[in-house]
Amino acid sequence: MNSNAQIIEKIREMEKLIASGAILDAPDNEPERQYYFMAKLKEYVAGVKERLGRALYACTKTFGCQMNARDSEKLEGILKVIGYETTESEKADFVIYNTCTVRENANLKVYGHLGLLSNYKKKNPDMMICMCGCMMQEEHVVEKIKKSYRFVDLVFGTHNIYKFAELLYDRVSQNSMIIDIWKDTDRVVEELPIERKFSFKSGVNIMFGCNNFCSYCIVPYVRGRERSREPEDIIAEIKKLAEDGVVEIMLLGQNVNSYGKNLENPMTFAQLLKEVEKIDGIERIRFMTSHPKDLSDELIEVMAASKKICRQLHLPVQSGSSRILKIMNRHYDKEHYLKLVEKIKKAMPDISLSTDIIVGFPGETEEDFEDTMDVVRKVKYDSAFTFIYSKRSGTPAAAMEEQIPEEVVKERFDRLLAEVQSGANERTARFEGQVKKALVEDVNTQLEGYVTGRLESSMVVHFPGDSSLIGKIVDVELTEAKGFYFIGKQREI
Ligand code: 5AD
Ligand code: SF4
Repeated sequence: MNSNAQIIEKIREMEKLIASGAILDAPDNEPERQYYFMAKLKEYVAGVKERLGRALYACTKTFGCQMNARDSEKLEGILKVIGYETTESEKADFVIYNTCTVRENANLKVYGHLGLLSNYKKKNPDMMICMCGCMMQEEHVVEKIKKSYRFVDLVFGTHNIYKFAELLYDRVSQNSMIIDIWKDTDRVVEELPIERKFSFKSGVNIMFGCNNFCSYCIVPYVRGRERSREPEDIIAEIKKLAEDGVVEIMLLGQNVNSYGKNLENPMTFAQLLKEVEKIDGIERIRFMTSHPKDLSDELIEVMAASKKICRQLHLPVQSGSSRILKIMNRHYDKEHYLKLVEKIKKAMPDISLSTDIIVGFPGETEEDFEDTMDVVRKVKYDSAFTFIYSKRSGTPAAAMEEQIPEEVVKERFDRLLAEVQSGANERTARFEGQVKKALVEDVNTQLEGYVTGRLESSMVVHFPGDSSLIGKIVDVELTEAKGFYFIGKQREI
């Protein structure tokens, strides 16, 4: 596998071949085909820059999960190669929205932003607007864009992001909106440029899609069936990342615990972790998301024995009520979940657990909700992402009667949040006074002379230091627990 610099060199070679007339048309094979379109776009962007007499800026807005964040790095890699500078501002020459559709709110937010963009585009006719991600996999969304947001230039989904350069080239060659949505199977095209947000840590996709069909969730409909990447490809990618200076990786998938089941030579997630652990240079391994129904004893053993796998586990419970869990189609009950947590804590007493919880699922009674509160009290999560149930059309739960009134949900949500927060504060305090390893991520923008590091548990610590520490793992004494974070000081050991 090639490094990013080598990939960029290959794109330069492609430019030369095009300029010399040795290559006239787009090759059929990948990734060369995409290199061809990147070379063509580079020429196009250079032309626009010359006409306007200034640099061009691109803004990528990412909604949703870590998988989307990783996809955005791939899109940004291509934008950089073809000649755009990056900006945070949506008043840019190129704006791309990588959308999420897990909850209705996210969709509404995107439509709101689009309204703003149409005004920007009126002032900057060279502006390009591109929409991609999970929301685009829904037919009614694409229809709405076609009808009400005609100024959008390019729409594509989650299965074909590797084709971004080709689609963009189509857009600049024809003067009309380009829409390319694939329904299922995606091609994983390796060796495309990437612009990583952090030099020292990276996400790595190990699988795509989900087969679980939790009754509230739209993901299986938009991301398609579960597909695992070949372990050799994953290992090769991580080795390259390690050579590039990455010390921490996050293995990504909707349900990592069922990794490898559909491979030609099946392998378990725990086996994959063992292979990843052998890679020199990688010092911390994280993964998400784990489904409680598939979390194996083998995985717990491998984690407990590992020096690199972080003692941190995101284990979405969704609800504490066995009755609701059944209707959610989660395939475990309250008892199973609590037993699993007990087993994990026994093997790794210092583990940090986090979770996702949905409040107000159709038919949720006060008693069901109390079961959720009970789980929160018993498990003692370090953190919990709490969500108000959002009705997603097309999912079984959307058709269920007994949708819960808003004020009841809101009241339960506030109670849950208070419980989660007090539990988390208590949990944080357990590390106070200890010395822990922190990976320094950034200079602190609020506290002058401080940097921010992340502990194995995923909590952050702010301590005196400067930018020379970024990307390093250092020992920090956690002098003061402040709820969700720590104040500390570096220890030379
Ligand atoms: N409403 C609210 N939350 C949802 N999630 C998934 N679907 C919905 C929905 N319809 C939450 C789950 C999942 C997280 C990523 O989003 O808790 O774990
Ligand atoms: Fe959605 Fe359930 Fe799949 Fe998670 S496991 S993505 S909640 S269907």
